[in-house]
Amino acid sequence: MKENKDYRALFNGIEVPVQLAAGNYVIPINFDNAATTPPLKQVDSFVYDNMLMYGSVGRGGHKSSYCTRAYEISRDEILDFFHLSPRDGYTTIYVKNTTEGLNLLARVLCDCKMDKVLCTRMEHHANDLPWRMSSNVLYVEVDEKGKLNLDAVSERLTEGQGTIRYVTVTGASNVTGYVNPIHEIAKLAHRHEAMIIVDAAQLVAHRPIYMKGTGKDDAIDFLVFSGHKMYAPFGSGVVIGHKEVFDKKNPYLLGGGAVTAVLDDDIYWKEAPQKNEAGTPNFLGAMSIVAATTVLKEVGFNAIVSHEEKLKDRLNRGLAAISKVILYGDSNERNRLGVIPFNIRGISYEQAAKLMMDRRGIAVRSGCFCAQPYAARLMRVGDKERYHYMLNTQLLPPGMIRASIGLYNTEKEVDSFLNTVEDIAAKLSGSRCW
Ligand SMILES: Cc1ncc(COP(=O)(O)O)c(C=O)c1O
Repeated sequence: MKENKDYRALFNGIEVPVQLAAGNYVIPINFDNAATTPPLKQVDSFVYDNMLMYGSVGRGGHKSSYCTRAYEISRDEILDFFHLSPRDGYTTIYVKNTTEGLNLLARVLCDCKMDKVLCTRMEHHANDLPWRMSSNVLYVEVDEKGKLNLDAVSERLTEGQGTIRYVTVTGASNVTGYVNPIHEIAKLAHRHEAMIIVDAAQLVAHRPIYMKGTGKDDAIDFLVFSGHKMYAPFGSGVVIGHKEVFDKKNPYLLGGGAVTAVLDDDIYWKEAPQKNEAGTPNFLGAMSIVAATTVLKEVGFNAIVSHEEKLKDRLNRGLAAISKVILYGDSNERNRLGVIPFNIRGISYEQAAKLMMDRRGIAVRSGCFCAQPYAARLMRVGDKERYHYMLNTQLLPPGMIRASIGLYNTEKEVDSFLNTVEDIAAKLSGSRCW
């Protein structure tokens, strides 16, 4: 499929028209792929085929046997997508989404609230709040462009003197799209006796991930992602990690399917991954992720990166050329996904996003994108000011607009988006964005 540039043909639903405020219908432009993504056709058909065979995972009977086998095999297929094999000692645990996966890790990996975990100020709330509850969390600050600095990570680890047990970091930011050097961070973490957890929610559909790294002690220990951000929106996500660690720790969710025996006063857990999947699994969700990995592998990450880079550059250049647009972060940074936060001087981010939808059927995100500490740093808004907005609920708090690209987006869509932003900006005066 390398030469196939008609990526739109791979997707369902993206050509369904929406009604604009004026009453006419247009094919919408979805630039909100960092939030969630539409399904691949191959995902839908694989889910449908498996739906016809649907039965209970972990039970007997014809359909149940089929589902149990397909579900267990799918774990290895997921490992393969990350260039791992079961022989590498990793296991695949299915969860609902990245949020649940990170909550699972925070609960399972931390033995007590004194355990030190190094997090960053770049994280989505999903990779921040669970650690605040389960551990003694420390943070690496970002620089003035919102980037994570390896020296700062190293410094924090050195200060920890071997007491930091885990480093948890996003693979790519959902606000700026910056791609973090996860293998370099892994090496630093390992040098200081810590393990690394990577939130791959944004990375998974846009960059190849080699969990083993280069073999020089830079492997990723745990990785989490959601199917709905990789064109498989069927309610499943994944945690990948060292099986022997999960085998030694207590599970997060407790209930049926996770135990070999329950005595009056004792519980005998199964081994991981079953031990970590109490309750009836989302079989069709798991199948959807496997189907998405198959398509992404067929298209190939070289083609994906090349297509998305072209769109990102066009979008960045176009936005930078509109005088009233404020871009956040470093537009010259090459190692960045197609996730671009901005504001338009003279109009609130909320109103601007609504106008884009009303006038041209453009979906973007507005606000702080569930990464408030990071977004606040990019906008140079301190906690004191944020507190003021919190107390005065009639005020619109600081925020931005985020445009984010997927595989099926086109240059024509980028141009149409830029025209709409330019139109909105044309007659404005003033500088307020909230
Ligand atoms: C970097 C990052 N981490 C975690 C999440 C949470 O993902 P989910 O809502 O699928 O649990 C998101 C969602 O936007 C994200 O972008």
